[in-house]
Amino acid sequence: MIKTRLTELLGIKHPIIQAGMGPFSNNNLCVAAANAGCLGLLSTSGLFNKDDQPWVYNAFCETGEANPDDDMGKVLDTVLKRTHRLVKDKGGVFGPNVMVSAELKEYSKIMIETAIKAREENPEMKNTLKVMYTSAGDPMGWGDMIKGAGFTWIHIIPSVRAAMRCKKAGVDVIVASGHEGGFHTHWEPLHSMVLFPGVVEAVSDEKTLVVGGGGVSDGKTLAASLAMGCDGVLMGTRFLATQESDFPRLWKQSVVDAQDRGTLVARGYVGPARWLRNPRSEEHAVNTLKKSPGVFLGTPDSYMTMEDTSLIDFENESIKAVYEEDKEKAMMAAGECAQRINDMPKVADMVQGVMKEAEEILRGVQKKYLV
Ligand SMILES: Cc1cc2nc3c(=O)[nH]c(=O)nc-3n(C[C@H](O)[C@H](O)[C@H](O)COP(=O)(O)O)c2cc1C
Repeated sequence: MIKTRLTELLGIKHPIIQAGMGPFSNNNLCVAAANAGCLGLLSTSGLFNKDDQPWVYNAFCETGEANPDDDMGKVLDTVLKRTHRLVKDKGGVFGPNVMVSAELKEYSKIMIETAIKAREENPEMKNTLKVMYTSAGDPMGWGDMIKGAGFTWIHIIPSVRAAMRCKKAGVDVIVASGHEGGFHTHWEPLHSMVLFPGVVEAVSDEKTLVVGGGGVSDGKTLAASLAMGCDGVLMGTRFLATQESDFPRLWKQSVVDAQDRGTLVARGYVGPARWLRNPRSEEHAVNTLKKSPGVFLGTPDSYMTMEDTSLIDFENESIKAVYEEDKEKAMMAAGECAQRINDMPKVADMVQGVMKEAEEILRGVQKKYLV
C-alpha cells in the first residue's frame, strides 16, 4: 500500500486522480474510479455543447441519467446525486471538474453553486462529493466560495508561475499538467519531467500538495512522479481506455491501437491540443499551421476573434464522426502515453496493476541502486 499526503487528505485508497475529460462524458468512469479507491472526477464542460455538439451533450445526459431538456444546473445536480448514490457504499470520493475561464465565469458559478447546494440539502454528500476541481482559467477569486463551503480545492496548471498564483489564491492541491498529456495543452508548454519537480520546489509545503499529470499511465510513471516529490498523480488517457469508460468505442480502441509517436499537437477548441495521429489529425495539423500558427509559436489566438471558422468546423465534424464510428473522418484526443497502453481493462484491475507495479519499484529502487 502506498500512503501519501493526497490519500490522507481525501481519505482515498490510492494516490491517483482520474481526470475529468470534457466536454465528453466520463460519468460512469468517475463512478468506477471512485469505487476503485481513486479520486473520481466528473467532466462538466459537455453542458456547454447542447446546441453546437448535441452528440456530446446527449451522451453526457444519457450516461448521467439526466433529462437533456433540463437547465444546466438541474442536469449537473442530477449527475452529482447519481454519482453520490453509486459511490457512497464503497466509500468513493469524487468531484466535478469546472472550467473557470473568464468567458465562462457566469456558468462556472452556477456549477459550483449547484454542488454547494447539493451538499447542503444532503449533508451525507460531504463524505463523497469532497472535492471541487477547477481548470482552464485563473484560480484567483474562487477560494472564498469553494473553500468557504468546505470543499478541498484542486486546480490544474501548466507552469511554475501559474502554480505560484494557485498558491496565492489558496488552492489546496495543485496539479502540474505536462505537455505529454491528452487534449488541451498550453500555448507555452512544459513537459512533466521538468514541470513536476519545478512545481514541487516552488509551492509544495505543509499546506499545499502537488499532483503530477501528463504521461502517467502505469506503476513506473507513478513511482517516478512520487520520486519527483509529487503527492499523487492525475491520469486521463489510461482511464479513457478502460471497460467502464464512457468514451465512444472507436476512441477507446484507437488509444489501445496507438503506436510509437502516435500523437501530434494541433488546434483544439481553446488552444493547442494533443490528438491521436491519423490522416485526419495530420490534415488538421497542416491547417492549424496555416490558420492558427500561434499553436506552434506559443502566441495565443482566440477562436472568438477568428473570422475563418474552418478549423473549429473541422474539429466538430471530426468529433461527431467518432460518435458515428466513421473512422475516415474521426479525430480523437489522447496523451503521448497512448503508445504505452495496450489493453482495455476494468478500472479496478488497472488501478491494482498500477499500484502493485509502483510498490514493487519503490521497494526495489533502494536495493538496486543504493550502496
Ligand atoms: C479526451 C480528453 C479530454 C480532456 N478534457 C479535459 C477537460 O475538459 N478539462 C481538463 O481539465 N482536462 C482535460 N483533459 C486533460 C486531463 O485532465 C489530464 O490533464 C490529462 O489527460 C493527463 O495526461 P494523460 O492523458 O497523459 O494522462 C482531457 C484529456 C483527454 C485525453
